[in-house]
Amino acid sequence: MKALGIDIGGTGIKGAVVDTKKGHLVTDRLRLLTPEPATPQAVADTVAMVVRHFEWDGPIGCTFPGVVKGGHVHTAANLDKAWIDLDAAGLIAGATGCPVTLVNDADAAGEAETKFGAARGKAGVVVTVTLGTGIGSAVVVDGRLLPNTELGHLILRGGDAEHWAANSVRERLELDWDEWASRVDEYLRLVEDLLWPDLFIIGGGVSKKADKFVPKLSCRTPVVPAELLNQAGIVGAALAVHRHHAKHGDEGQALPRGRHAG
Ligand code: BGC
Repeated sequence: MKALGIDIGGTGIKGAVVDTKKGHLVTDRLRLLTPEPATPQAVADTVAMVVRHFEWDGPIGCTFPGVVKGGHVHTAANLDKAWIDLDAAGLIAGATGCPVTLVNDADAAGEAETKFGAARGKAGVVVTVTLGTGIGSAVVVDGRLLPNTELGHLILRGGDAEHWAANSVRERLELDWDEWASRVDEYLRLVEDLLWPDLFIIGGGVSKKADKFVPKLSCRTPVVPAELLNQAGIVGAALAVHRHHAKHGDEGQALPRGRHAG
C-alpha cells in the first residue's frame, strides 16, 4: 500500500512516496519552499509540482498547519488567512488531479509516531508536541487520536504559547539552548498540569537536535524526541489516506472532477 505524503509547513512543502504498511519512505524526500505569500492557489500549485516530480497519480495524503475537518480548513495561524473556511482538499485535488485526504500536521506526526515511532504500543495518554514555525499538538489516548487539539495556542505569559516557545522564536530571538529549553519547559509544564500525559514526544525539525535541549527539561512527564524525526509529517499524511478509506470509503476524500477514487 503506497500513498504520496505531503507535509505543508510555514517554510517548506515536503513530499515522498510512503509505504504505509511499513512506515518507510520509498523515494527520496523532495522539499520546496513554501511560496510567499502562502495563498491557497500558490500552495496548491507547489503541491502540484511535488506530484509531478514523483510522476504520481494515486491518492495523496496532505497535512495542513491548522484545524482541518472534512477537507475544510478552519484556522491558519501561520499561513495566509485566505485558507480559512476553504475546501482545501478540493482545491489541491483540482490542482493535482489526484484524490486528496487533508489532515492537521501535528495530528499526522502523532499518528505516525503511534504506528511506527516513539509511541508504538504505548498505552495511556501520549502528547506529541511539534516545535516549528508554530506549536502543534496531537493527543493520543490508548492509540486513538483526539483530532485538532490546538494546544500551541494555550495562553502562556499573557499571550499565545507558540509566540513564546516555538522553534521559530528561538531562531528569531537567537536564544541559546538554555534559554529556549526553559521556555519549552514552561510550556510543557502548562500542558502537563492540564492533561497529565504519560509521555511527551517532541516533533518538528528541531527534534533532530533533541540532545541540545531535552536533557535540560525538568517537567514531570517523560520527554522523548520523535523517532521519525522530520519524516513524521510525510508518513502521517500518507497514513491518513488509508485510515480515512478504512473508515469512510471515498466519503470526505476530495476527488478531482470526473474522477473516482480507486
Ligand atoms: C496551528 C496548528 C498547527 C501548528 C503547527 C499552529 O499555529 O494552529 O494547527 O498544528 O501551528 O504547525
